Amino acid sequence: MSKTIIISNRLPLQLKIHDNTIETVPSVGGLATGMKSVHSQSDSLWIGWSGLTEEEFNLDLKTQVNAALKKHQCVGVPLTEDDIEGFYYGFSNNTLWPLFHYFMEYTEFEKSTWETYKMVNQKFADVVLQHIEDGDTVWVHDYQLLLLPDLIRKKKPDTSIGFFLHIPFPSYEVFRTIPCREDLLKGMLGADLIGFHTYDYERHFLSAVQRILGHEINFNNIHLDNRMVKVDSFPMGIDYDKFHNAAKTHDQKSNKEQTEIQQEINKHLKEGSNQAKLILSIDRLDYTKGIANRLRAFEYFLDKYPQFKGKARLVMLAVPSRANVPQYQKLKNEIDQLVGRINGKFAEVSWTPIWYFYRSMPFENLIDLYTSSEVALLTPIRDGMNLVAKEYIASRVDKKGVLILSEMTGASNEMGEALIINPNNFEEIADTLKFALEMPEEEQIKRNNALQKRLKRYNVEKWASDFFEALEATKNDTKKYILK
Ligand code: ADP
Ligand code: G6P
Repeated sequence: MSKTIIISNRLPLQLKIHDNTIETVPSVGGLATGMKSVHSQSDSLWIGWSGLTEEEFNLDLKTQVNAALKKHQCVGVPLTEDDIEGFYYGFSNNTLWPLFHYFMEYTEFEKSTWETYKMVNQKFADVVLQHIEDGDTVWVHDYQLLLLPDLIRKKKPDTSIGFFLHIPFPSYEVFRTIPCREDLLKGMLGADLIGFHTYDYERHFLSAVQRILGHEINFNNIHLDNRMVKVDSFPMGIDYDKFHNAAKTHDQKSNKEQTEIQQEINKHLKEGSNQAKLILSIDRLDYTKGIANRLRAFEYFLDKYPQFKGKARLVMLAVPSRANVPQYQKLKNEIDQLVGRINGKFAEVSWTPIWYFYRSMPFENLIDLYTSSEVALLTPIRDGMNLVAKEYIASRVDKKGVLILSEMTGASNEMGEALIINPNNFEEIADTLKFALEMPEEEQIKRNNALQKRLKRYNVEKWASDFFEALEATKNDTKKYILK
């Protein structure tokens, strides 16, 4: 029976070694959370990196590693420390990530990391080729594996291959600056169908293909010598029911059943005289997420509207991410300093303006935060989609709550009822925060009603099935194209 092979750099679970035994933790990030739902509902195999380097385990542990992955229908790609340095920290996160998010000043081009990127993409291809059978469908994900579709196509020309980019595709003027631009585009064009979160990213890609490779483009079809590649936008959804139902159950929990975080929230906020409203932000600690801007805007808000001192609190969860890349270390220091300075400037005995958590949290705690916060303030400078925005709305069972969302996120295209802001405009953010904190409940409900209906309909399942349908249709069109 044919199967689907999902391939991404990171597997949905990460392995850790503790006391000579293997432990698993879930991966963080939009790709992992989204695709995990797709993977759990289908007969698929997921190929990727387990989070452990080859140097970290010996032969005895290898059997344990493989068994832990197999249990989740996963297969690991063996990567060494040098591979991770050059491929993951280097070319993926020091070159492609900043460039594709328009942070050109952070983008470094290094021949050696590019060489490792090519070599590691080949390692992924080798593992895929060991597992692929005739009739299988392959779905490759994200910027770490831009060369993989073509590497698979070369060895298995008839395979149905889809590729999805989870981050923005930048405009031609930005993309053209990368020395290996032709190789990257050719690598992606090994797929039959290439998907993006938004129409804009799709247009940018088509423009780059036309101007750099000179291929003929007809609407959203790219004509190659012997094949046709289709390009389209598929805005990723969330597992709506999972978040909505978890939030429902959460509301019904007795005091005893509540998590520690929820009890703390209740103690400090919902009881006694301290009635500060919670403004939530959740992101990986990443410069694209606009965390420093958000803190400065919150400071500006408290200066401009001092009546909210003691009445509003920013709850900021930043999940550690890519800590070996210098820009991420700098950002961590900057945020530590900003939080300290702002808390020092405004804090009162009974009120601290910012609660800052720098750690990963289990799912139940995310739900605690989503359900307890009156406002969500998400201010990325650039973000391919931003699933947190969608998860916050899905978790508002009583339909109350206000989402403030950056116009630079893919999600803002579909979430017009949210309060959309420019993350660089502190004046606008401060005024919007005031507006959100004072918004009448009927208006909150009206806005969230529309948002929830849309998110429920275009959930992650629909996203994946739309993609697979389009992939099948493209494959049939290609056959006709070849016959002509
Ligand atoms: P990105 O993919 O850039 O990290 P998204 O907002 O699209 O940004 O996705 C982040 C995902 O990571 C969400 O699905 C969110 O639920 C998940 N997540 C965020 N913080 C945590 C955390 N502390 N623990 C577990 N998952 C988290
Ligand atoms: C984003 C990227 C994913 C990545 C995730 C977490 O969502 O699009 O490809 O997996 O961030 O980042 P990490 O570097 O920890 O895998």
